[in-house]
Amino acid sequence: MGRMEFFKEGLKNLKTIGTVTPSSKYLCAKMVGLSDLIGSKCIVELGAGDGVMTSHILKRMPAGAMLFAFEINPKFCELMREIDDPRLIVVEDSAEHLAKYINDHGFEQIDVVFSALPFVVLPDEVSQSIVQSCYDFLKPLGQFFQVHYSLLEKNLYKRIFGNVNVSFQLLNIPPAFILTCSKII
Ligand SMILES: C[S@@+](CC[C@H](N)C(=O)[O-])C[C@H]1O[C@@H](n2cnc3c(N)ncnc32)[C@H](O)[C@@H]1O
Repeated sequence: MGRMEFFKEGLKNLKTIGTVTPSSKYLCAKMVGLSDLIGSKCIVELGAGDGVMTSHILKRMPAGAMLFAFEINPKFCELMREIDDPRLIVVEDSAEHLAKYINDHGFEQIDVVFSALPFVVLPDEVSQSIVQSCYDFLKPLGQFFQVHYSLLEKNLYKRIFGNVNVSFQLLNIPPAFILTCSKII
Protein backbone atom coordinates (compact mmCIF):
# COMPACT_ATOMS: atom_id res chain seq x y z
CA MET A 1 0.00 0.00 0.00
CA GLY A 2 1.28 3.47 -0.84
CA ARG A 3 1.99 5.99 1.94
CA MET A 4 -0.90 8.21 0.81
CA GLU A 5 -3.42 5.34 0.91
CA PHE A 6 -2.16 4.31 4.36
CA PHE A 7 -2.46 7.95 5.46
CA LYS A 8 -6.13 8.04 4.35
CA GLU A 9 -6.91 4.70 6.03
CA GLY A 10 -5.13 5.87 9.19
CA LEU A 11 -7.11 9.12 9.28
CA LYS A 12 -10.39 7.28 8.77
CA ASN A 13 -9.65 4.78 11.56
CA LEU A 14 -7.35 6.71 13.89
CA LYS A 15 -8.93 5.14 16.99
CA THR A 16 -7.98 1.60 15.91
CA ILE A 17 -4.90 2.17 13.72
CA GLY A 18 -3.28 4.74 16.02
CA THR A 19 -1.04 6.26 13.31
CA VAL A 20 -1.16 7.62 9.77
CA THR A 21 2.15 6.18 8.59
CA PRO A 22 3.32 2.57 8.23
CA SER A 23 6.54 1.48 9.95
CA SER A 24 9.67 2.36 7.97
CA LYS A 25 11.92 -0.36 6.56
CA TYR A 26 14.53 0.73 9.14
CA LEU A 27 12.13 0.15 12.04
CA CYS A 28 11.01 -3.21 10.63
CA ALA A 29 14.60 -4.33 10.05
CA LYS A 30 15.64 -3.27 13.55
CA MET A 31 12.75 -5.01 15.31
CA VAL A 32 13.12 -8.26 13.35
CA GLY A 33 16.91 -8.05 13.70
CA LEU A 34 16.58 -8.03 17.51
CA SER A 35 14.67 -11.33 17.47
CA ASP A 36 16.00 -14.85 17.66
CA LEU A 37 13.94 -16.81 15.14
CA ILE A 38 16.29 -19.81 14.86
CA GLY A 39 14.32 -23.02 15.45
CA SER A 40 10.99 -21.14 15.73
CA LYS A 41 7.82 -22.99 14.83
CA CYS A 42 5.08 -20.54 15.77
CA ILE A 43 5.51 -16.79 15.32
CA VAL A 44 2.76 -14.21 15.94
CA GLU A 45 2.35 -10.67 14.63
CA LEU A 46 -0.31 -8.44 16.22
CA GLY A 47 -1.64 -5.38 14.38
CA ALA A 48 0.01 -6.37 11.11
CA GLY A 49 -1.41 -3.43 9.12
CA ASP A 50 -0.68 -3.61 5.40
CA GLY A 51 2.02 -6.27 5.97
CA VAL A 52 5.13 -4.09 5.95
CA MET A 53 6.61 -5.81 9.04
CA THR A 54 5.14 -9.16 7.96
CA SER A 55 7.37 -9.26 4.88
CA HIS A 56 10.47 -8.62 6.99
CA ILE A 57 9.50 -11.43 9.38
CA LEU A 58 8.84 -13.87 6.53
CA LYS A 59 12.30 -13.14 5.07
CA ARG A 60 14.01 -14.03 8.35
CA MET A 61 11.91 -16.92 9.69
CA PRO A 62 12.69 -20.65 9.23
CA ALA A 63 11.17 -22.56 6.31
CA GLY A 64 9.07 -24.80 8.57
CA ALA A 65 7.62 -22.09 10.82
CA MET A 66 4.13 -20.54 10.67
CA LEU A 67 3.36 -16.84 11.05
CA PHE A 68 -0.07 -15.82 12.40
CA ALA A 69 -0.72 -12.17 11.44
CA PHE A 70 -3.66 -10.64 13.37
CA GLU A 71 -5.34 -7.57 11.88
CA ILE A 72 -8.87 -6.19 12.27
CA ASN A 73 -8.90 -3.79 9.30
CA PRO A 74 -10.46 -5.57 6.27
CA LYS A 75 -8.60 -3.44 3.71
CA PHE A 76 -5.23 -4.26 5.29
CA CYS A 77 -6.16 -7.98 5.49
CA GLU A 78 -6.99 -7.99 1.78
CA LEU A 79 -3.53 -6.62 1.02
CA MET A 80 -1.82 -9.15 3.27
CA ARG A 81 -3.62 -12.02 1.54
CA GLU A 82 -1.75 -11.00 -1.62
CA ILE A 83 1.52 -12.06 0.05
CA ASP A 84 2.25 -15.38 -1.60
CA ASP A 85 3.80 -17.43 1.20
CA PRO A 86 2.26 -20.66 2.57
CA ARG A 87 3.80 -19.97 5.99
CA LEU A 88 1.55 -16.92 6.49
CA ILE A 89 -1.89 -17.20 8.10
CA VAL A 90 -3.78 -13.89 7.95
CA VAL A 91 -6.21 -13.75 10.88
CA GLU A 92 -8.91 -11.13 10.34
CA ASP A 93 -9.84 -10.94 14.00
CA SER A 94 -8.82 -9.16 17.17
CA ALA A 95 -5.61 -10.11 18.93
CA GLU A 96 -7.87 -10.70 21.96
CA HIS A 97 -8.74 -14.07 20.38
CA LEU A 98 -5.13 -15.19 19.97
CA ALA A 99 -5.54 -18.37 22.05
CA LYS A 100 -8.30 -19.79 19.87
CA TYR A 101 -6.30 -19.54 16.61
CA ILE A 102 -3.07 -20.87 18.11
CA ASN A 103 -4.86 -23.85 19.69
CA ASP A 104 -6.98 -24.57 16.60
CA HIS A 105 -3.79 -24.94 14.57
CA GLY A 106 -2.37 -27.40 17.09
CA PHE A 107 0.25 -25.16 18.68
CA GLU A 108 0.75 -25.04 22.44
CA GLN A 109 3.48 -22.41 22.52
CA ILE A 110 4.53 -19.26 20.67
CA ASP A 111 8.23 -18.67 20.01
CA VAL A 112 8.18 -14.92 19.28
CA VAL A 113 5.52 -12.16 19.26
CA PHE A 114 5.90 -8.95 17.21
CA SER A 115 3.29 -6.33 18.05
CA ALA A 116 2.48 -2.89 16.68
CA LEU A 117 -0.94 -2.80 18.36
CA PRO A 118 -1.88 0.76 19.35
CA PHE A 119 -2.19 0.02 23.09
CA VAL A 120 -2.26 3.76 23.81
CA VAL A 121 -5.71 4.00 22.21
CA LEU A 122 -7.09 0.61 23.32
CA PRO A 123 -8.98 0.23 26.63
CA ASP A 124 -6.62 -0.70 29.50
CA GLU A 125 -8.34 -4.01 30.20
CA VAL A 126 -8.06 -5.06 26.53
CA SER A 127 -4.34 -4.16 26.41
CA GLN A 128 -3.70 -6.01 29.65
CA SER A 129 -5.54 -9.12 28.54
CA ILE A 130 -3.70 -9.26 25.17
CA VAL A 131 -0.24 -8.85 26.72
CA GLN A 132 -1.09 -11.41 29.44
CA SER A 133 -2.21 -13.93 26.83
CA CYS A 134 1.05 -13.38 24.88
CA TYR A 135 2.98 -14.03 28.09
CA ASP A 136 0.96 -17.18 28.86
CA PHE A 137 1.53 -18.64 25.37
CA LEU A 138 5.20 -17.73 24.97
CA LYS A 139 7.72 -20.53 25.46
CA PRO A 140 10.25 -20.06 28.28
CA LEU A 141 12.73 -17.39 27.12
CA GLY A 142 10.34 -16.51 24.25
CA GLN A 143 10.52 -12.88 23.10
CA PHE A 144 7.82 -10.21 22.90
CA PHE A 145 8.44 -7.05 20.84
CA GLN A 146 6.25 -3.95 20.89
CA VAL A 147 6.48 -0.74 18.84
CA HIS A 148 5.59 2.52 20.62
CA TYR A 149 5.96 6.21 19.90
CA SER A 150 6.37 7.04 23.61
CA LEU A 151 7.24 5.16 26.79
CA LEU A 152 3.89 5.88 28.50
CA GLU A 153 2.85 2.22 28.37
CA LYS A 154 6.18 0.74 29.54
CA ASN A 155 4.76 -0.35 32.92
CA LEU A 156 2.15 -2.54 31.25
CA TYR A 157 4.95 -4.87 30.03
CA LYS A 158 7.04 -4.50 33.19
CA ARG A 159 4.08 -5.65 35.31
CA ILE A 160 3.46 -8.77 33.23
CA PHE A 161 6.96 -9.82 32.09
CA GLY A 162 9.00 -8.31 34.93
CA ASN A 163 11.56 -7.01 32.42
CA VAL A 164 11.61 -4.53 29.51
CA ASN A 165 14.49 -3.40 27.30
CA VAL A 166 14.13 -0.28 25.21
CA SER A 167 15.67 0.42 21.78
CA PHE A 168 15.07 3.46 19.60
CA GLN A 169 14.79 3.99 15.84
CA LEU A 170 15.07 7.58 14.70
CA LEU A 171 14.46 6.67 11.06
CA ASN A 172 10.69 6.32 11.32
CA ILE A 173 7.79 8.79 11.20
CA PRO A 174 7.43 9.41 14.08
CA PRO A 175 10.69 8.08 15.61
CA ALA A 176 9.81 4.91 17.50
CA PHE A 177 10.75 2.85 20.51
CA ILE A 178 10.98 -0.93 20.40
CA LEU A 179 10.16 -2.49 23.77
CA THR A 180 11.51 -6.01 24.20
CA CYS A 181 10.49 -8.46 26.92
CA SER A 182 11.55 -12.06 27.57
CA LYS A 183 9.54 -14.72 29.36
CA ILE A 184 11.91 -15.55 32.19
CA ILE A 185 10.55 -18.33 34.41
C1 LIG B 1 0.22 1.21 14.35
S1 LIG B 1 -0.62 0.20 13.15
C2 LIG B 1 0.75 -0.86 12.70
C3 LIG B 1 0.68 -1.40 11.30
C4 LIG B 1 1.92 -2.14 10.80
N1 LIG B 1 2.24 -3.28 11.63
C5 LIG B 1 3.10 -1.22 10.76
O1 LIG B 1 4.03 -1.46 11.54
O2 LIG B 1 3.10 -0.31 9.95
C6 LIG B 1 -1.61 -0.82 14.26
C7 LIG B 1 -2.48 -1.85 13.58
O3 LIG B 1 -3.16 -2.60 14.58
C8 LIG B 1 -4.46 -2.92 14.12
N2 LIG B 1 -5.31 -3.26 15.30
C9 LIG B 1 -5.88 -2.41 16.20
N3 LIG B 1 -6.52 -3.09 17.16
C10 LIG B 1 -6.35 -4.42 16.86
C11 LIG B 1 -6.76 -5.62 17.50
N4 LIG B 1 -7.49 -5.60 18.64
N5 LIG B 1 -6.39 -6.80 16.95
C12 LIG B 1 -5.65 -6.83 15.80
N6 LIG B 1 -5.24 -5.72 15.14
C13 LIG B 1 -5.58 -4.53 15.66
C14 LIG B 1 -4.90 -1.67 13.36
O4 LIG B 1 -5.96 -1.90 12.47
C15 LIG B 1 -3.58 -1.26 12.69
O5 LIG B 1 -3.47 -1.79 11.40
